[in-house]
Amino acid sequence: MNPKIKNICCIGAGFVGGPSMAVIASKCPNINVTVVDINHKRIEAWNDKNLANLPIYEPGLDELIKKCRGKNLFFKTNIEQAIFEADMIFLSVNTPTKETGVGAGQALDLRWVEASARQISKFSTGNTIVVEKSTLPVRTAETVKSILISNKDSKDKKSNPKSKSFSVLSNPEFLAEGTSINDLENPDRVLIGGDDSKAIEALENIYLNWVEPQKILKTNLWSSELSKLTANAFLAQRISSINSISAICESTGADISDVAEAVGMDTRIGNNFLKAGPGFGGSCFKKDILNLVYLSNYYGLEEVASYWEKILDINNWQQKRISEIIVHKLFGTLSNKCIGILGFAFKANTNDTRESPAINICRDLIEEGAKLKIYDPKVNNLQIDLDLKNACISSNVEYNNDSWLIENDLYKTANNSDALVVLTEWEEFANINWQEISYIMRSPSWLFDTRGITNKYIAKKNNINVWQVGV
Ligand code: NAD
Ligand code: UGA
Repeated sequence: MNPKIKNICCIGAGFVGGPSMAVIASKCPNINVTVVDINHKRIEAWNDKNLANLPIYEPGLDELIKKCRGKNLFFKTNIEQAIFEADMIFLSVNTPTKETGVGAGQALDLRWVEASARQISKFSTGNTIVVEKSTLPVRTAETVKSILISNKDSKDKKSNPKSKSFSVLSNPEFLAEGTSINDLENPDRVLIGGDDSKAIEALENIYLNWVEPQKILKTNLWSSELSKLTANAFLAQRISSINSISAICESTGADISDVAEAVGMDTRIGNNFLKAGPGFGGSCFKKDILNLVYLSNYYGLEEVASYWEKILDINNWQQKRISEIIVHKLFGTLSNKCIGILGFAFKANTNDTRESPAINICRDLIEEGAKLKIYDPKVNNLQIDLDLKNACISSNVEYNNDSWLIENDLYKTANNSDALVVLTEWEEFANINWQEISYIMRSPSWLFDTRGITNKYIAKKNNINVWQVGV
């Protein structure tokens, strides 16, 4: 008989663990969902009475937390207890690029996956279904399985080795930040990889509470793990493709939005993910492509590796190209110039700054001697400070207390600035009152719109010089 799931544990209360478990709890009121994390501060924030203090900003997330928290959704630090009680455990821990040792700079660092598997091995009871939700290299399930069963000989009474068994499934997550809740509630597909039909059915039954059966795709473990890396690589590839064409547009008089529209109307190509910008950011595209490059080289497929590497080269080049354009247009020097940065998150509707193009672009402008004023509607000030300090230190760029100032308002950011640079496509920036802005900027004033969202005609009418990506 297929096991009935009553208690779910999710290890990792991050951008995936938090929202995905909130959706499961909301769609499955009869299942208790406990999300655990080694980061006590993060768990405290998930339990904060004031929903504005949740650790993640995601539209719609606060309502789900309000609905389920304390009823069938719990955020805890007692990992052992949650593992002990769980019938099904989701692994949603971070898998960043390895910084040292074999594969450094390319392979994924699986130390958090391994640590979690060891804990599951030790504290679980009965038959436990372990679900890989983190993005993992192909064949990681094999490693997870071998760690899980490694505790069989343990003398530790608590671990009770005789009465436990495990099934490992791969169930990669395809949500995008900023639209997580909608993506989770209305997924294009749910992918389940595995070889234990009862475990697969148990996981499928959870999703069937809100996902149509034809959207649930079942494959073997390795196809599932590889599909996740491939999907991210394809998405990133489209962005590098359109960004490369944006540069040709700027040199030829073509307009990237026209080209994207014309190309996207071909139903074989489709019109999503064709927005030129400052290069892709976010915690995953870069690390997952690097991992694909590593895997390709590992299997002796050097041509494949160098093909995917190019996607990252174009992305770095696009960011560099934009900072160079800003310097060039501002007469070749930024010293004593004040530049207002509009947006620091890697995309709109999230407070996440991981790999945000804003980090490298700001660092380059600081290196050129600019004084920055930075405004983002959702990113925490401490996070901006931390990102910029780390970026400057790791590139040996000198900075001081005047190098940047964090503002809490668009108009303060524009006041006395020589230029405004739109780096995140927050809706607020699409509706700027350029007449008012033109009164408070220093002239000659410039707008650099790396997202193509501002009304350049009105800005120009108000004597602001405009550069927009791909135009
Ligand atoms: P995250 O860093 O926001 O969250 C991971 C959490 O796991 C952290 O809070 C960390 O403290 C916790 N953790 C690590 N080791 C632990 C342990 N042993 N016990 C308990 N907690 C532990 O990461 P994320 O953005 O949620 O990503 C998680 C995984 O999902 C990654 O593999 C990522 O590639 C993948 N993914 C991310 C997204 C996204 O949009 N962020 C989307 C799809 C897939
Ligand atoms: C991406 C994928 O879209 C998700 O399917 C995947 O689950 C996730 O990575 C992951 O594995 O982490 P995410 O990074 O959250 O999601 O956000 P995206 O919407 O994909 O945007 C990524 C970056 O590309 C952002 O910097 C965004 O501004 C940029 N982008 C996106 C463009 O420059 N142009 C576009 O047309 C689309």
